[in-house]
Amino acid sequence: MRLISSVNEMMAWAKEQRRVGHTIGLVPTMGYLHEGHLTLMRRAKENCEKVVVSIFVNPLQFGAGEDYEEYPRDLTRDSQLADSAGVDVIFAPAVKDMYPKGYSSFVEVEQVSDHLCGAARPGHFRGVTTVVSKLFNIVRPDIAFFGQKDAQQLAIIRRMVEDLNMGIAIVGVPIVREADGLALSSRNVYLSPEERKAALVLSQSLKKAKELIAEGEGEAERIRQEIIKVIEAEPLANIDYVQIVDNRFIQPVERLEGECLIALAVRFGKTRLIDNLVMEVSPNDSHDA
Ligand code: PAJ
Repeated sequence: MRLISSVNEMMAWAKEQRRVGHTIGLVPTMGYLHEGHLTLMRRAKENCEKVVVSIFVNPLQFGAGEDYEEYPRDLTRDSQLADSAGVDVIFAPAVKDMYPKGYSSFVEVEQVSDHLCGAARPGHFRGVTTVVSKLFNIVRPDIAFFGQKDAQQLAIIRRMVEDLNMGIAIVGVPIVREADGLALSSRNVYLSPEERKAALVLSQSLKKAKELIAEGEGEAERIRQEIIKVIEAEPLANIDYVQIVDNRFIQPVERLEGECLIALAVRFGKTRLIDNLVMEVSPNDSHDA
């Protein structure tokens, strides 16, 4: 496995791979790799001849007062893990090479970023779509892999690729969870033992929502209130948002129909965690009208 930090070297490597006819898979990450990231990498390896994993804690997607400085970093450990997943190149550029002095270009995807984290973290998705566009231009992958864990991010990237004719296939990979249900996240290391236990309300509340939908509940607000009840029963949990939207345009729905996304953001102390559930609901499923 090669470790590349120079943008030019990365472009040259990718160009050579294309010249010899290899397909390239890209897995963008901010590092501090866990089993969720590794699942994306294995998936990429199954589908592409060469796999590039980018590791870049992107300052542009962190707001003032967010955890850019504290975000966990460990390139040595990450390299070993990526190597074991069959990755060909880790691309880990420096901030000054990605955003040199005078940097002025940004990519913004409207509407799909109106709600959920787009509303809760102003500027966040502008930072994400800008860095992902840059990574796409540098690596020019055939396929890029993203986790369903960040459902709105995935919807925004799909929109961007379609709107801007980027010609890159986007593959979404299901959420990888701990045995007790907590979705894996690099931010889980911030949790105290008590907060770690409390954070189980995220997956538990989604399980409750799933049961209600299976019983035929189709009204979004009722499901939302039940989720809120489960989360609020946990004293260490502070809700940022609980929303039910359609999974493509990420706009609120009143009744569950088609592919719906139930998305949560909850704080435990200083740590903000997200989780979600995608449900395909056919009109016949809800006999609650
Ligand atoms: P990061 O949080 O490091 O996540 C990198 C990729 O791993 C994302 O596509 C994310 O959805 C996926 N991922 C994280 N936890 C997962 C889990 N438990 N199960 C499945 N997939 C999971 O998301 C980012 O970085 C950044 O915003 C980035 C796209 C790299 C742009 O800076």
